[in-house]
Amino acid sequence: ANVLVLHGPNLNLLGKREPDVYGIATLDELNRRLIELGTKLDLDVTCYQSNMEGDLINHLHFASEKFDYIILNPGAYTHYSYAIRDAIASIDIPVIEVHLSNIHAREAFRTTSVTAPVSQGQIVGFGLMSYELALISIQQKLNEATD
Ligand code: DQA
Repeated sequence: ANVLVLHGPNLNLLGKREPDVYGIATLDELNRRLIELGTKLDLDVTCYQSNMEGDLINHLHFASEKFDYIILNPGAYTHYSYAIRDAIASIDIPVIEVHLSNIHAREAFRTTSVTAPVSQGQIVGFGLMSYELALISIQQKLNEATD
């Protein structure tokens, strides 16, 4: 199966940005880990990052032509982008929302996710492992489907 990992705004600065919150690994390191785990799980992983809302929306639209699953970290758009929420609701492929930090244990504005209700689920607070847990859940689902 083909999985698109979509990273939202400011995640290009991973490793440099608030390392006490987001860790010291860079986005490249994270992507490499995901592609590697994907190979072990028989999942073809493609990673893309954008700081632009419309670009993320375009990728959600076009993803349905090529991908079976999307793992999405919408960054701060999580908390207020109805446009990204509507894009998720408009496509047929499942989206798993992930966050490095535990958004429920930080500032009040981060506890709201407008994208989670239209996503398959939300994995938060496990750092890079939030993404890895999402990949594992995809592989489990695929296994159940073929059993
Ligand atoms: C984040 C949490 C968001 O609140 C924040 O705006 C981010 C990163 C996370 O992965 O923990 O950019 O999505």
